Amino acid sequence: MKLHAESLTRTYGEVHALDHLTLSLEARVLVLIGPSGGGKSTFLRLCGGLDRATSGQLAINDILLAGDERHLQQWRRGNGFLFQQFNLFPHLTALRNITLPLEKVHGMRPAAAIEAARISLDRFGLEAHAEKLPAQLSGGQQQRVGLARAIAHGPGILLLDEPTSALDPEMTAEVLELIQELAAAGQHIILSTHEMGFARAVADHVALISAGKILESGPPAELFGSPREPMTQRFLAKVMRFS
Ligand SMILES: Nc1ncnc2c1ncn2[C@@H]1O[C@H](COP(=O)(O)OP(=O)(O)OP(=O)(O)O)[C@@H](O)[C@H]1O
Ligand SMILES: [Mg+2]
Repeated sequence: MKLHAESLTRTYGEVHALDHLTLSLEARVLVLIGPSGGGKSTFLRLCGGLDRATSGQLAINDILLAGDERHLQQWRRGNGFLFQQFNLFPHLTALRNITLPLEKVHGMRPAAAIEAARISLDRFGLEAHAEKLPAQLSGGQQQRVGLARAIAHGPGILLLDEPTSALDPEMTAEVLELIQELAAAGQHIILSTHEMGFARAVADHVALISAGKILESGPPAELFGSPREPMTQRFLAKVMRFS
């Protein structure tokens, strides 16, 4: 995907969640890292068309993410999303969690939706869980169902906001493996994570966002191996100390 952000700003009252952020890159898997409150989720929401900028411009694959709600809605429909937690409807089975948006958002007929959902569940080894409610699944299984849902309609870009931060280490590994598989299969992904080892392994471009700006961005080998900015070095020294 091609991404171009020019002086992108998103304010909430006095807070500048994004503050004249400028970034230009071409990547298959873009990973956002950075301190808490730096602006990663805000940037992801803008990339997904879930929110709009206060000022500045953002274009992905030469499509300007601005304009009327219908335009943004169309962009949203073409992508897939997974957040930190609470991704599934608690009163619906795993299968129905996937078929419902396929029918309501993507206009598929019930039979076709069930077939697409089953393919997606099978792909992630979740077929035995199809008829279970979220409460009957582990956190890791729930996130895998969430991923199965996010890819069921063949999204152009998969947007993942800290998809493992609510999981314990073993479940984190399960979910990260699936994301890596999707990346290896060519899925375009933008994701935010605090898992530096994973970021380094899966990214072909890493952007460090802090105080609403890009502190540094580039290929993972460069950013992790020989960071240019003193603030990047400090951030990495802090988060890598115990890993
Ligand atoms: N809906 C909102 N209303 C008010 N302030 C917000 C809102 N969303 C984000 N902010 C503020 O914008 C800034 C950036 O937040 P954001 O959630 O994008 O950071 P983040 O990098 O995702 O942090 P974390 O790593 O903790 O998830 C923070 O100061 C946050 O408090
Ligand atoms: Mg966040």
